[in-house]
Amino acid sequence: MCGIAGYIGKNQAAPIILDGLSRLEYRGYDSAGIAVFDGERIRMAKAAGRLSVLKELTDNGRALPGCCGIGHTRWATHGRPCDENAHPHMNRENTIAVVHNGIIENYRKLREKLERKGYVFSSETDTEVLAHMLTEYYRGDPVEAIEKVLHRVEGSYALGILFLDHPHHIYAARRDSPLVVGVSGEEKFIASDVPALLEHTRTVYYMENEEIATLSAGNIRFYSLDGELLSKKPVTVEWDISAAQKGGYAHFMLKEIHEQPSALRDTIFPRLKDRRIDLDDLGLSEEKIRRLRRISIVACGSAYHAAVVGKYVLEALARIPVETDLASEYRYRCPICEPDSLVIIVSQSGETADSLAALRDAKARGSRILAIVNVVGSSIAREADCVFYTGAGPEISVATTKAYSCQLAAFYMLAAEFARVRGAIGADRFCGLLAALKRLPAQVRELLGCQEKIQFLANRYLAADHIFFMGRGIDYAISLEGSLKLKEISYIHSEAYAAGELKHGTISLIEEQTPVVAVATSDRLYPKTLSNIVEVKTRGAMVLALTTPGHEDLARTADYVLFVPETEPLFMGSLSIIPLQLFAYYVSLGRGLDVDKPRNLAKSVTVE
Ligand code: M6R
Repeated sequence: MCGIAGYIGKNQAAPIILDGLSRLEYRGYDSAGIAVFDGERIRMAKAAGRLSVLKELTDNGRALPGCCGIGHTRWATHGRPCDENAHPHMNRENTIAVVHNGIIENYRKLREKLERKGYVFSSETDTEVLAHMLTEYYRGDPVEAIEKVLHRVEGSYALGILFLDHPHHIYAARRDSPLVVGVSGEEKFIASDVPALLEHTRTVYYMENEEIATLSAGNIRFYSLDGELLSKKPVTVEWDISAAQKGGYAHFMLKEIHEQPSALRDTIFPRLKDRRIDLDDLGLSEEKIRRLRRISIVACGSAYHAAVVGKYVLEALARIPVETDLASEYRYRCPICEPDSLVIIVSQSGETADSLAALRDAKARGSRILAIVNVVGSSIAREADCVFYTGAGPEISVATTKAYSCQLAAFYMLAAEFARVRGAIGADRFCGLLAALKRLPAQVRELLGCQEKIQFLANRYLAADHIFFMGRGIDYAISLEGSLKLKEISYIHSEAYAAGELKHGTISLIEEQTPVVAVATSDRLYPKTLSNIVEVKTRGAMVLALTTPGHEDLARTADYVLFVPETEPLFMGSLSIIPLQLFAYYVSLGRGLDVDKPRNLAKSVTVE
């Protein structure tokens, strides 16, 4: 959701900024723009549509010479996607240029005030107020003007700012929207996310909330909103550039699906120590784990679907009551946070606005917060009491795959260790779980071999208008994720139902040739789900079923059957999701859609 890239150094800024923006395309956007100081003035170009339009407009940046500039990809919130609303926004004198990620919530009031003072607006955006406010407060010192403005705005921001009076500087600031500063000798960068910098540097400073940064070729300074000079240490990013490239795959999504075995290994193996699961870094002592009376898991989208699996596994193994909540609901429902309860926030990006707000709400009510997060140093990771980092590496495709898989693995490990510590399972059962965890990466690799068969099946569903997914227990939780995966990248309307719930309304939608994907991997629930499959078949549905060896009889009922290998029943979701991810991928591909950047979606949802 909106991307910022900025550069100052000895090279031409525009091509570097455009390249940085292209590495942020995955965040989702509908227009793009760039501003560069050319030695005399700040020159700007912006255009609605894909980055390619801006690249053409600026001759790949060559038309905007200069070594200091800022760029932006905009995901429209206030004002439709068009040239005028694209960032940067400048004041009337063209002496200040601003790019912004976030929402200025009190912009209407600020705009009215500025208009009364004679400022003329040329866009419908909330961001433009910042350019005019900076003009209003600027008396020669950019940091002072930025402080004054930011004390008056409500909402969230990551900002890149140029002042014509200070041509060899970039100014940056953040509150609740991510921003990193990169350093490579005399070259300095700002970006919304690390992949935009990896080509140039792995040395970064993560900006904290309410910090201002000034970047020049010579140095970087950080200030608080009260003008106090701050001392910050750079961090070396572990990811390398190959992680943010397609590496020969047609799409990031396909690459990331194939990275799941190694992502799982990187998440699981570092924690397997001396026949236990090492959670020491989480600061959850055995005493605290024993005292736990309730767990609330809060997340959005696929991370929420991982939470639903987490609930089944935690309750089954550790025998702790677990509730799951969508973060956008949790934050407004006055949840009850009892002593000895734990709130788990799950997020790939660690920047999802609703999840971050839920975290803050739960913390304010006195809960202890454990975050399951993929992006190191992200807002959720920083604000949680403890973090279980997933080892997925950078995930670029909007549709999450490997991060989701790693979230499942994180829940398995929490559940198994909590169960061991609380004495809810015996040593043999615990050893069995460890063995199953160790086998998972190889089993996922084996399943990826069914890619061609899935492509063949997916091609039969290209013309579908609606698809229903169904399953029971963990199979239902996986159906939720399979259905979301499909709808977000294929634009086919899709719903997931607990198979037993179909009869309570939804079955009226089943008619001749209605596509149904049935997940039936649970031995215990198989007869029940089979009955539900028969019920939809009787009404004409075309059924693609997923099951485990031993249920060959399903071929007599379903139109197509896919077999997934067996594992520990509570971990089955890690295997059954693989064909569903590939299914969604190939349906999207077959329909000729933009798999990695589906319409209207953003990778990191940093606004409410
Ligand atoms: O970064 P997060 O895990 O907090 O993101 C949550 C959702 O926005 C995300 O999972 C979304 O549903 C994905 N696009 C699904 O593929």
